Amino acid sequence: MPAGLAVEAVHCYSLLHDDLPAMDDDDLRRGQPTVHVAFDEATAILAGDALLTHAFALLADETCHPDPTVRIRLVAELAAGSGVGGMVGGQMRDIEGEKGGFSNGDIEVMQAMKTGALIRASVRMGAILGGADPRALSAMTAYAQAAGRAFQLADDILDVTATSEAMGKATGKDAGKGKQTLVAQMGLEAARRELDTIVNDAVMALRTFGPRADGLRATARYFASRNS
Ligand code: IPE
Ligand code: MG
Ligand code: MG
Ligand code: MG
Repeated sequence: MPAGLAVEAVHCYSLLHDDLPAMDDDDLRRGQPTVHVAFDEATAILAGDALLTHAFALLADETCHPDPTVRIRLVAELAAGSGVGGMVGGQMRDIEGEKGGFSNGDIEVMQAMKTGALIRASVRMGAILGGADPRALSAMTAYAQAAGRAFQLADDILDVTATSEAMGKATGKDAGKGKQTLVAQMGLEAARRELDTIVNDAVMALRTFGPRADGLRATARYFASRNS
């Protein structure tokens, strides 16, 4: 539970900052005014900073796991997923991308970093807590990478196809902001086909696990089939 809370804290912080006027400038999140609208920008920045810091306090606490070596591995995983080589680096690419000129490969790297890296970290943290051996960890990492791409690709598709009411956040904004997405690059139908392929990749990565991994399989399918 503390490890799950730590991932959730980083995720919430990332959205608080993502919605700021300096980034995506959004007013609605989860059906409610964003933090900078409900309070002010300083509060949104500091609440995000506080959540990020608290995430590592949760992982460092003994209640997370009795073995300090496990706790340190969790800290390192979450730092790698959320830092410059992961989410923050991906968010920087997303902003840079507004100037245009990304190839499909650039977009895939950006997706993998801004969204995939935290999903990868959360899957690996669960695997570490479950005592996964190196082979199981590597299969779950391959799963997480594909599932993470699927999640962001679905988000980019839903930006075009879903209503703001269903999503609880503004939709129809990516194209106007010049966001570099596979939907903009290859069109909706091709993006949907790509999404099916990626979900299959995620499910295939779990083939050695049998029914034990049904929850993860269902999660990857849900990432792609969700409509909110
Ligand atoms: C945000 O991507 C990824 C983060 C690291 C927060 P988006 O900017 O597409 O996310 P939404 O559409 O605002 O939820
Ligand atoms: Mg964004
Ligand atoms: Mg956004
Ligand atoms: Mg989006």
